[in-house]
Amino acid sequence: MPKAPIVLAVDTPELATAVEWVKATEDHVSVYKLGLEFFLTFGSDGVKAIKDVTNSDIFLDLKLHDIPHTVSGAAKALSHLAPRFLTVHASGGFAMIKAAVDALPLTQVTGVTILTSLSEDDVAEIGYKANALDSAVALSGIAVRAGAGAIVCSPLEIKAIRDQVGMGPIIITPGVRPADAISSDDQVRTMTPKDAIEAGANFVVIGRPITQSWSQGSRAMNERAAQIASELI
Ligand code: C5P
Repeated sequence: MPKAPIVLAVDTPELATAVEWVKATEDHVSVYKLGLEFFLTFGSDGVKAIKDVTNSDIFLDLKLHDIPHTVSGAAKALSHLAPRFLTVHASGGFAMIKAAVDALPLTQVTGVTILTSLSEDDVAEIGYKANALDSAVALSGIAVRAGAGAIVCSPLEIKAIRDQVGMGPIIITPGVRPADAISSDDQVRTMTPKDAIEAGANFVVIGRPITQSWSQGSRAMNERAAQIASELI
């Protein structure tokens, strides 16, 4: 069976657990997302420990945001890890995004637009002239013009961003919940993984709906990943 367009969010403070999650799911998961907490705790060695147990791709969700020279240096410092995706804040602007793109020609630099944790009031207070959706669409356009190969957005923004950037860029969306999920956890406006893919996303980020099955063991986690994967391929 081919791997599904699932990005598994490896959100655990324990490296040994992270490695076991990857081993349990790697038949079905295309990409493993390692976040800032993981990277600040385990560093490059932690990323290598994950790469050692999978041939799936790595998504470094570090959300870089600094002057272009500094982002270029940070991106170069990551090149030995050869991540498929590396996030940067699109609000860092064209030159900053391009600095990351130029530093990592083999990585899809991934633009994060407006954080979905921000309310419309927050967006206005920061100083954006447009609402969150229109600002996210505009930022995705800047990111793609600067060479970003991928965009992270809310499932509700997929269609508008796809219209803005065309079919080329990869759209990755968190905030999805399988129809049979017992809880949506702290995710508020969710879509099912299948609906997100049908709306134009290339990958869905899924964490707890798969990782919580670890409490029933490795086999249960493999079966849960297989079940969600089967709806997507
Ligand atoms: O466990 P869950 O499926 O909610 O995990 C989703 C992952 O996607 C987490 O790593 C979370 O930080 C990330 N994420 C999100 N919403 C965003 C951006 C990232 O849930 N807007």
